[in-house]
Amino acid sequence: MQSMDSMQDLVQSMLLDLYAAERQALAFMPKMAKKAKSQQLKSMFEEHQRHTEMQCGRLEEIFQQLGMKKPPRRATHPVISALAKETEQMMRAGGDQSVIDAAIVMAAQKLEHVEIASYGTAVEFAKLLGEKELAKLLAKNLDEEERTDKKLTKLAKSSINPRARARSN
Ligand SMILES: [Fe+2]
Repeated sequence: MQSMDSMQDLVQSMLLDLYAAERQALAFMPKMAKKAKSQQLKSMFEEHQRHTEMQCGRLEEIFQQLGMKKPPRRATHPVISALAKETEQMMRAGGDQSVIDAAIVMAAQKLEHVEIASYGTAVEFAKLLGEKELAKLLAKNLDEEERTDKKLTKLAKSSINPRARARSN
């Protein structure tokens, strides 16, 4: 990690982190989609997969604009790695499929929340530096993440959680 001598250094480091998080989420989402039983949940993952590809594209555009070297596509993010590991263990443990679907939504929302927190701060830092174009691109990604999070909550409340609850003793 580079030393943090200016806010520009901090923002660049956050952008690299976000790119790693997106790339890793991109690789992990199909695993959650495959394990999910709910058709709606599966299609939400497919939709978010497309969004994530666009988000990576926007970040690549930002790297170019800032004259940064494009980071490796196989980069990993420590928090996303930990969440992916936890989710894989949960999915491997098996159990009732309705309950597993509820757990998959929970896992997906944890991932979203990490991204939302980082994008939220990155947008504010970009504004602080007067980087309007950068703030705009990052705000687009933030907006998509927030929409996905809200959709997941809606899906969980309307069908996934009640179905899982019906399985409880
Ligand atoms: Fe994302």
